[in-house]
Amino acid sequence: MLLEAERETKPDADPAFRADVIAGLSGERKAIPARWFYDRRGSELFEEITELPEYYPTRTERALLEVYACDVAKLAGPGRAVVEFGSGSSAKTPLLLGAVEPSSYVPIDISGDFLRESAAALSQRFPGLPVHPIEADFMHPIALPQAIGHAPRLGFFPGSTVGNLTAPTAVDLLRAMAGTLGVGSMLLIGMDRVKDEAALIAAYDDAQGVTAAFNLNLLHRINRELDGDIPVEAFRHVARWNDAEARIEMHLEAVRDVRFAAAGHRFAIRQGETIHTENSHKYDRRSARLLLAAGGWAPIAEWTDPQDRFAILLAEVKPPRTAP
Ligand code: AVJ
Repeated sequence: MLLEAERETKPDADPAFRADVIAGLSGERKAIPARWFYDRRGSELFEEITELPEYYPTRTERALLEVYACDVAKLAGPGRAVVEFGSGSSAKTPLLLGAVEPSSYVPIDISGDFLRESAAALSQRFPGLPVHPIEADFMHPIALPQAIGHAPRLGFFPGSTVGNLTAPTAVDLLRAMAGTLGVGSMLLIGMDRVKDEAALIAAYDDAQGVTAAFNLNLLHRINRELDGDIPVEAFRHVARWNDAEARIEMHLEAVRDVRFAAAGHRFAIRQGETIHTENSHKYDRRSARLLLAAGGWAPIAEWTDPQDRFAILLAEVKPPRTAP
């Protein structure tokens, strides 16, 4: 039998992770924020997801950038500091940096190792471009490095990451970005479109089970970092389309009654109950523009693929309100 002291959280565990897990597993409706997917293993699994045949967003957005980055460059003009929110592997960044003649590049990500590796790779690819990585959660206010000077900013928020947020949180974030980037800045943002339900479900429940592994890795992470003893095989990956909210939801469903310990606490989950782990909101043309406007950004241009599966939008910080 384990003593309570032996179940205590490892000293290096992120206190915010610990707090979110305890709060998220304690209530009647269980949920853990999607940002905790991205430990090293989770980031690797996400990279694998982006290459799956069913997961169209990454390749569709990349193709849009390949074709339209030069149009973005014409509208943005040269010499901007490019600030990327949630840069991850920075896989699409070269397409933008290669077109816009930036004065510097500031990648922001919560996964520190990943951030430094991809920043180093990018520096090699663009010698002479100042790169200033920031290890941070972009949901919190961020001070941009002094070194980038007064160059106008171009925010880059690809991948439909904004889709992880509910509307009020997305609006708060867009407003915070406008504040961080400042007057005269622009934002290039990727948003996934509402589409045929079967295509959406396939993208979040792939045949190879990579998305399932990505979702279940959250439980492994709790076991690793918060001294948990969750029987991971007692959970299954579920992806559902919530039509009223226009979003894909990912859940971990208990296939039997489960009891376990984690972060020094005991939890019980009944068979059929789920832990809600992610929302991925989809936007049609109007809702995308409405979201940007609510967040303080005026769309300047938007580009989509011929099947209208994914969109990238360029917006500028809205001038102060005028009539009507
Ligand atoms: C990184 C948030 C854009 O919602 O499509 C992929 C994450 N989750 N498969 C998305 C994800 C499951 C992804 N984003």
